Amino acid sequence: MEYRIWHPFTQHGQKAELPEIVAASGSWITDKSGKRYFDAISSWWVNLHGHSHPHIAERVNEQMKTLEHVIFSGFTHAPAQELCNRLMNHLPKNDWKFFFSDNGSTAIEVAMKMAIQYLRQQEAGTKVKVIGLEGSYHGDTFGAMSVAERSVFTTSWDDFLFDVVHIPAPLPGSENACLEALERHADSNTIFIYEPLVQGAGGMRMYSDEALHQMLSVAKLKGCVLIADEVMTGFGRTGRWFASSASAIVPDIICLSKGLTGGALPMSLTVCGNHLYEAFLDERFIKGFLHGHSFTGNPVGCAAALASLDLMEENETWMAISMIEKEIAKIAERLTVLERVTDIRHKGTILAFEYAGAGSYDHQMREVLYERFMHAGHLIRPLGNTVYIMPPYCTTKKELEVVGTVIIDVIQSIEEEQF
Ligand SMILES: Cc1ncc(COP(=O)(O)O)c(C=O)c1O
Repeated sequence: MEYRIWHPFTQHGQKAELPEIVAASGSWITDKSGKRYFDAISSWWVNLHGHSHPHIAERVNEQMKTLEHVIFSGFTHAPAQELCNRLMNHLPKNDWKFFFSDNGSTAIEVAMKMAIQYLRQQEAGTKVKVIGLEGSYHGDTFGAMSVAERSVFTTSWDDFLFDVVHIPAPLPGSENACLEALERHADSNTIFIYEPLVQGAGGMRMYSDEALHQMLSVAKLKGCVLIADEVMTGFGRTGRWFASSASAIVPDIICLSKGLTGGALPMSLTVCGNHLYEAFLDERFIKGFLHGHSFTGNPVGCAAALASLDLMEENETWMAISMIEKEIAKIAERLTVLERVTDIRHKGTILAFEYAGAGSYDHQMREVLYERFMHAGHLIRPLGNTVYIMPPYCTTKKELEVVGTVIIDVIQSIEEEQF
């Protein structure tokens, strides 16, 4: 008998052994053999300030010694209060209420359950409709899978998912199709969920501030409950604190996770407007929001999030973000020499392009690219044929230049073998 760890999104039939990571610092991770990898994807988009950041470590360590955890139903604590109070300074202006959970998928589950119950509490028996965007991804739990477009990530469970109307995302050229579909399908019993400005796992599909604003204007006019999934786009990724700020229309609910703790500990927030919160206030327990997880509002997670906020509030972090924006624009320019590289796009600290077949999901090509990037000491994990980088904010100009060179070298080496 031999124990085995079953890793996420890993086909163990293809990969028996995985590199063992023993340490990580700044933008670099180190394996057992001493090989270092540049973490160009911020370890699944969570890491903001670099690995093992001393300030986050210190605040977490202090919190661990005073209050490591307490049941959050019936109690509150200062780290959670301070975190929500400080987030009010950075979220789009609104009278926000904050519900804690543990990861991006649960932030979405909470948002969906909250929105459905909210609509039913307005009017008993309401038939709720849900609209999502084509190319969307919202997580791996059943509710989160339901609201996302059906894809390789949902195939095995499609017949267990609830019905959602998926409309075109307002990508360049599809803006009108999106608006027309919203006009046709949305009404005041509709929940509309979307990733603002960048659709992540669906292939780093990007759309403009204007397209976001127009889409939300129609949805708002129709009376939809708007859920912004900012699990990936939050905390500076698109060059702003939150992508939702690109439109004057404030969503009813915003989901946050990944960068919330600077990528150090699992935590998420479902942030809702006061009108939703108030709709649950009642003498009867059953009218409340009967949802929660064992580790909801964990104080150590809150301490990590507070430490990350300290760093996010520093000028240097925003200078670093704009340096990354400029440097990845330069990489985008350099990539244009590669013939089979298409649809080069970037927003904030995210750069993406298609290699050898836009819109397809060539798993074999993905594996080849991944292995070669790893061999070159760079963690770059394509989504099918979409290659992207999203580095931590501590990344230097020099490191970014090298990433550009590695991407070009790897692609050129594949081209040379194929032709
Ligand atoms: C936009 C978006 N929503 C939700 C999720 C799910 O988050 P988690 O993996 O933490 O469950 C992800 C994860 O990549 C995401 O990108």
